[in-house]
Amino acid sequence: MRLLAVTTATPPGALELLVGLGDGENGFGGTPVGRDPGKLDDWLDYCVHIATAPPLSDDFLAQMNYWIIDDTGFVVGLVRIFPRINQALLNHGGHLGYYVAPAYRSKGYGKAAFRLALDRLRREGVKRALVTVESHNSASLSLVQAFGGVEEGERIDDETGRALRRFWLDTACRTKIRQKAS
Ligand SMILES: CC(C)(COP(=O)(O)OP(=O)(O)OC[C@H]1O[C@@H](n2cnc3c(N)ncnc32)[C@H](O)[C@@H]1OP(=O)(O)O)[C@@H](O)C(=O)NCCC(=O)NCCS
Repeated sequence: MRLLAVTTATPPGALELLVGLGDGENGFGGTPVGRDPGKLDDWLDYCVHIATAPPLSDDFLAQMNYWIIDDTGFVVGLVRIFPRINQALLNHGGHLGYYVAPAYRSKGYGKAAFRLALDRLRREGVKRALVTVESHNSASLSLVQAFGGVEEGERIDDETGRALRRFWLDTACRTKIRQKAS
């Protein structure tokens, strides 16, 4: 399993993943491709641009998207990292978001991708990463706790009215990965 930066090339399974993600799940935002598969190329261009453009303002921050790729080269998920966060991401979203397609869950991909995402944040100079998790999201909560996330407390998300638990993680932390993902 590996992370692959999203570029204008489309690895197998990419379109299906984005269509399945739709408008998003549990606070991990969807893409325009979820509503209109014809927007795939525009979205890929946007990802390349937003990963490399210098931040212009607090409303336009660098964002890096990575495919989670299995050992056969197929896309099974998506990871998003924000090396610098603004007030909105401080409230909701944090430095890191992750999504594994339903058919590939509970196989270890989430955990393996989470560790690689923390490594990338560390290389971007982020020592402590914020992750916000909806209170009902048991799978995400076990991920964050497996990596030693220290809970800061709960906030109510302005947009959804849902309770978000907030965790800070040391990006140099290592956890023992039970390597199920192939
Ligand atoms: C959260 C998510 C990425 C986890 O991906 P995954 O590939 O299933 O994760 P893993 O297989 O690595 O499992 C991670 C941990 O969660 C646990 N877990 C998995 N599914 C679970 C569930 N439904 N309920 C409770 N725990 C669960 C696993 O047991 C594992 O813990 P363990 O190592 O102690 O056994 C995935 O469920 C997902 O994409 N959800 C929708 C999007 C989302 O919620 N993103 C997070 C926004 S904050």
